[in-house]
Amino acid sequence: MYRSHNCGELRASHTNTEVTLAGWVQGVRDKGFMVYVDLRDRYGITQLYFDEEQTDKLVLETAQKLGREFVIQVKGKVQERASKNPNIPTGDIELLVTELTILNKAKLPPFTIEDKTDGGEDIRMKYRYLDIRRNPVKNSLIFRHKVTQEVRNYLSNASFIEVETPYLIKSTPEGARDFVVPSRMNEGQFYALPQSPQTFKQLLMVGGMDKYFQIVKCFRDEDLRADRQPEFTQIDCEMAFIEQEDILNTFEGLTRHLLKEINGVEVDKFPRMLYDDAMRLYGNDKPDIRFGMQFGELNAVAQHKDFGVFNNAELVVGIAVPGGNSYTRKEIDKLIDWVKRPQVGALGMVYCRCNDDGCYKSSVDKFYDQDDLAKWAETTGAKPGDLICVLSGDKNKVRAQLSALRMELAERLGLRKPNEFAPLWVIDFPLLEWDEDTERYHAMHHPFTSPKPGQIELLKTNPGEVKANAYDLVLNGNEIGGGSIRIHDKETQALMFDYLGFTEEEAKAQFGFLMDAFQYGAPPHGGLAFGLDRLVAILGGQETIRDFIAFPKNNAGRDVMIDAPAPIDDEQLTELSLKLNLQS
Ligand code: AMO
Repeated sequence: MYRSHNCGELRASHTNTEVTLAGWVQGVRDKGFMVYVDLRDRYGITQLYFDEEQTDKLVLETAQKLGREFVIQVKGKVQERASKNPNIPTGDIELLVTELTILNKAKLPPFTIEDKTDGGEDIRMKYRYLDIRRNPVKNSLIFRHKVTQEVRNYLSNASFIEVETPYLIKSTPEGARDFVVPSRMNEGQFYALPQSPQTFKQLLMVGGMDKYFQIVKCFRDEDLRADRQPEFTQIDCEMAFIEQEDILNTFEGLTRHLLKEINGVEVDKFPRMLYDDAMRLYGNDKPDIRFGMQFGELNAVAQHKDFGVFNNAELVVGIAVPGGNSYTRKEIDKLIDWVKRPQVGALGMVYCRCNDDGCYKSSVDKFYDQDDLAKWAETTGAKPGDLICVLSGDKNKVRAQLSALRMELAERLGLRKPNEFAPLWVIDFPLLEWDEDTERYHAMHHPFTSPKPGQIELLKTNPGEVKANAYDLVLNGNEIGGGSIRIHDKETQALMFDYLGFTEEEAKAQFGFLMDAFQYGAPPHGGLAFGLDRLVAILGGQETIRDFIAFPKNNAGRDVMIDAPAPIDDEQLTELSLKLNLQS
């Protein structure tokens, strides 16, 4: 038996008990005639005590030589501490050690393994196994486990069956690039790793597994951000014989359950917002509704004067910044610089101070009088003491810019409170979106999403206007899930592929298996997938998913610990028929 108790377990009630502990040496305080050692494991820290009078000489000497992160086993008797430490649960006791075994020595770690460490991000990623010994990382992984466990229990209790689908597949179009795997046995051919199990879960519906879920790795070769990893995990779900309403209710139920069990937060029925409204009011399809600052469209009250910048703009739109009138001229100039950064891309910003006496003072007073500015205030909901920030230009661009400003200001004003949860559904997404690069319409969600009933005809005349039975689940300004009701008949699916620019042959080559399946009794079906990493991070009060992944990739998509990706040797290249291709 390596241990009778763990390092977080012993209390004053264990006094005089003989115990065996095992763990890592967090630190040694050697006072000569007595030695204190902090022993750490996953569960906590216990103080070990050795002294000249009570401890065997050899044991004391060994204790004096212990280094940080040595793995040891100790036997001894629990005793009350002379000076107690109220900051840790085991702070009332210590272990008077009688036997000490060094199980393994350790090199000096490259950073201190404590809650507040001196190690930078890079070094901690290189030695991630050491980082995992630290409470913040360890606790994030335990937190993730709890969320995952709750999800499994909830869905299993609701008759969902977890089914595994293959990782070596053919490309699924989720909008990113595929990671591909060469096939040794099929020369010159490649598998793609799934961007999601989308087509397989639809085939499971045809197979009669009417409630499916899977906690599953997905792979997308796309640019990385704080909320994106090249491999990430979905809670992937699909149901047959359902309508959109059933899906929304089922997964709202799951989310509400998680908020209650994990965060102790009860949330009312989730609001539902049309995609068009989300874009109009927040400039964003994943609005953070924990705070106001809704957009006010100002075209009607700002395009009647001689101000060319506004008159030539497709959209003039503003937000009221609570208390923003207190900003100095210098602070406002900084804000203008902020929106002009290339990452945001605004050409400039007009502002209007709302003074406490009810008067307005704007950066464009030359063009607008007090009555005009009063209308701006009314439209943006600005109150005395606020600052109205106004951007103008191309509708889509200016909405994105003002949305970035809204989020930035909210962050600065402390309005994005991590312990407050404001979920909502965004519904009725457009079916298609225009892609500037390819000058073509692409499926906004994926090509298996069904248009709203009665809208399929509109595809011919006004494709950009067609709305889909597609929805996203948004939590605190993050898209934590998305899904749709699917097309389930061959004809409509063929029509969709046609509109998306696939020739009949291409559609058949890529998705023939799905269209074939639709001919053998496909039930009406739909589903959604949560991004588990994002969900866990947000429930944990953060937005960086890396902290909740045991072995994440860095921003360049590298695993710096195992040093991947890496070249492979010539022999392997030849075996995979890649060598010739690379040289040709
Ligand atoms: P979608 O592409 O919207 O839908 O993905 C579902 C959810 O997965 C999360 N997500 C990511 N998380 C981390 N890193 C990434 N690179 C990443 N990409 C996506 C998001 C997102 O909401 N098959 C459909 C689902 C369906 O229609 O049922 C799909 O994959 O939280």
